[in-house]
Amino acid sequence: AGNKTFTMLKPDAVSKGYTGEILKQITGSGFRIVALKMTQMTEQDAKTFYEVHKERPFYGELVDYMTSGPIVAAILEKENAVDDFRTLIGATNPEEAAEGTIRKKYAASISENAIHGSDSDENATIESNFHFSGREQF
Ligand code: CMP
Repeated sequence: AGNKTFTMLKPDAVSKGYTGEILKQITGSGFRIVALKMTQMTEQDAKTFYEVHKERPFYGELVDYMTSGPIVAAILEKENAVDDFRTLIGATNPEEAAEGTIRKKYAASISENAIHGSDSDENATIESNFHFSGREQF
C-alpha cells in the first residue's frame, strides 16, 4: 500500500541503456511498480505534458528532447511516494544532485537529466492518467 508517484526515464537514459539499472535502483529503494511501458511522446503530447513550462526559455528545447526517442513511463507506489522519489532522483541539475542519486549517476546535464518525478500528489495523478489508461494501472 501507500500513495503514488509518476516517473519517466527520459530519452537519454533509455538510449544509453540505463533502463534496467535505474528500475533496479527504484524497486530496491522500496517503490512498487504498478504501471510500466516504453513509449514515445509526440510533439503534442510533450507540449501538453509540459504546458506549465510554456513561457520558460527552455520549453522548445524540452519538447524537442522529450520527443527525440523512446521513454519508459511508470507509476510507483510507496509510503510518501512523491517526496521520497524526488529525494531518490536528486536535484534537477545533476551538478547539484546528491551523491548516489539517480540524476547524479545517470544525468548528462540540466536539460538531459535522465528522469522525471512528479512534484505533488495532484500532478502524480494527472501525469499517470496522461500516460496510462485505467486498465494499465494495477
Ligand atoms: P523535470 O523537472 O522533470 O521537468 C521539467 C524539465 O525541464 C526538467 O526536468 C529539465 O529537463 C528541464 N529544465 C529545467 N530547467 C531547465 C533549464 N534551465 N534548461 C533546460 N532544461 C531545463
